[in-house]
Amino acid sequence: MSKIAGIDLGTTFSAISHLNNMGRPDIIANRDGERIMPSAVFFSPDGRILTGEEAIRSRYDDVGRSVRWIKKHMGDAEHKRTIDGKDYTPAELSSLILKKLHQDASPQVGEITDVVISIPANFGEVARKATMDAGKIAGLNVVGIVNEPTAAAFYYAITHEIQGHVLIFDLGGGTFDVSIANVAGQDIEIVASSGDSNLGGYNFDQKLTEFFAQKYKEETGGNLYSDDEEKAEIEDYAEKTKKSLSKKDSVSYKLKGDSGRVQGTITRSEYDSLISSDLARIEMLIETALDEAEDEASDIDKVLLVGGSSRIPAVQSLLKKMFKYEPSLIGNVDECVSLGAALYAGLRMLEDNPSQVDAGIAAGLSDVKVGDVCNHSYGTLCIAVDEVTQAEALTNVIIIPKNTAIPCEVNDTFYTRVDGQEKVNTRVTQGESADPDLIGDPIAEGFLELPQGLPPGSPVEIKYSYDKDQRMTCVFTEPASGKSKVFDLDLKSGESSERTIEGQKAKLADFTIE
Ligand SMILES: Nc1ncnc2c1ncn2[C@@H]1O[C@H](COP(=O)(O)OP(=O)(O)OP(=O)(O)O)[C@@H](O)[C@H]1O
Ligand SMILES: [Mg+2]
Repeated sequence: MSKIAGIDLGTTFSAISHLNNMGRPDIIANRDGERIMPSAVFFSPDGRILTGEEAIRSRYDDVGRSVRWIKKHMGDAEHKRTIDGKDYTPAELSSLILKKLHQDASPQVGEITDVVISIPANFGEVARKATMDAGKIAGLNVVGIVNEPTAAAFYYAITHEIQGHVLIFDLGGGTFDVSIANVAGQDIEIVASSGDSNLGGYNFDQKLTEFFAQKYKEETGGNLYSDDEEKAEIEDYAEKTKKSLSKKDSVSYKLKGDSGRVQGTITRSEYDSLISSDLARIEMLIETALDEAEDEASDIDKVLLVGGSSRIPAVQSLLKKMFKYEPSLIGNVDECVSLGAALYAGLRMLEDNPSQVDAGIAAGLSDVKVGDVCNHSYGTLCIAVDEVTQAEALTNVIIIPKNTAIPCEVNDTFYTRVDGQEKVNTRVTQGESADPDLIGDPIAEGFLELPQGLPPGSPVEIKYSYDKDQRMTCVFTEPASGKSKVFDLDLKSGESSERTIEGQKAKLADFTIE
């Protein structure tokens, strides 16, 4: 029987869970006893890779060898870090965290082969693919990915038997997601999701770091930090202060920079005003999710708190103001995503490879259903003619609208413009606006060569399909000739992709991860 695990690859903390023989998920602590491990990596000059707390402390020696918050760059295909003259992508660096989780977990429960990795609901295609690649570079069989709020809802539905129309509020270290779900028995149906992949505890720590630097300057005229290493220590001090402010109304601080020591006190309300613009954005994104689900706040039966930053009192007060009751803090807000991902992994294995699933696990999951939606709109660019003015303009036409239940397949037909048109520019877009300038670059782009002599107005058929791993295939076809252009945005089975993964694995193979 293969061992199944769920991994929450977080911006600040990561965790791995497996399904026990009864089909219940359990967190597997790492070798140092950490149930959640800081998502930090340090390339030690002697060739070892340090992880977790040790990597965080080593950052104070040399920020250039340290990697933190790498998840924030997963969606940036161009981002790289250069360490000892070698370039590393976010997927490669994330694979080191996954490898550490896996290498510490397997000896405890048996060799883990099949995993599901969770991702923010708001992640775009590039980030989703990078996350799957990270798993493969770590040598894992990634049987699926799951949205973090979906995983949390799944865990609570199965283990705490929450029911009804539920809003999952997930504020973590780097990302914010809000999802609305219908939970009936063991059926979980996500109806809408909204979020920001650049809003979380990291942003709050940066604000407090700036606050400290400013206070120091005001009192001494000097600088609190003069290099990245000194700043790293202040960032961690800011995070500790922030956590204390969740418990106490005011916290005293001591700062030491280039002009001596400074002492002071920060009150919770001062801190709340530092993060007030983030709180306003959170409120707006909740409103967006409610709108998209066609809900009023009063339609929501329960607000489930997920993610470490949901402990912030101002966040909980905001939710109480919006929903008129206390949000629900059930279980451990840091662990529920990983636990839900393990349950989801069991479900996926049961669907795809039932003979490999323990009888106990299969029995526990036999009546469960999880339905999710796509978290962005996907479309294509074409020249559209305004019916009134007859003006022509490049327009983003949406083919799969945001929050469509997945898996799904949508067909549409477009038409050539000129006599003997030789090719069609085929572009896959991600974003809601009709204005191409507002949605950024297409996520895939190419040409469909057309047969000779086509009259204007000849059809070009488009088929977009979106699978349960939230990966897309887009096919543009000229029906008479059968010529087509295919964008397989799930590159997990592509030959070149596998070759790249092997190269990436080899690049990291010599490192010992501690
Ligand atoms: N008591 C607390 N008060 C305020 N913030 C807290 C508290 N406890 C943890 N946090 C913050 O929660 C964040 C970590 O939460 P979590 O582990 O859910 O995030 P993550 O999974 O790493 O990030 P993400 O889901 O965004 O990728 C950190 O920024 C941490 O400082
Ligand atoms: Mg998280």
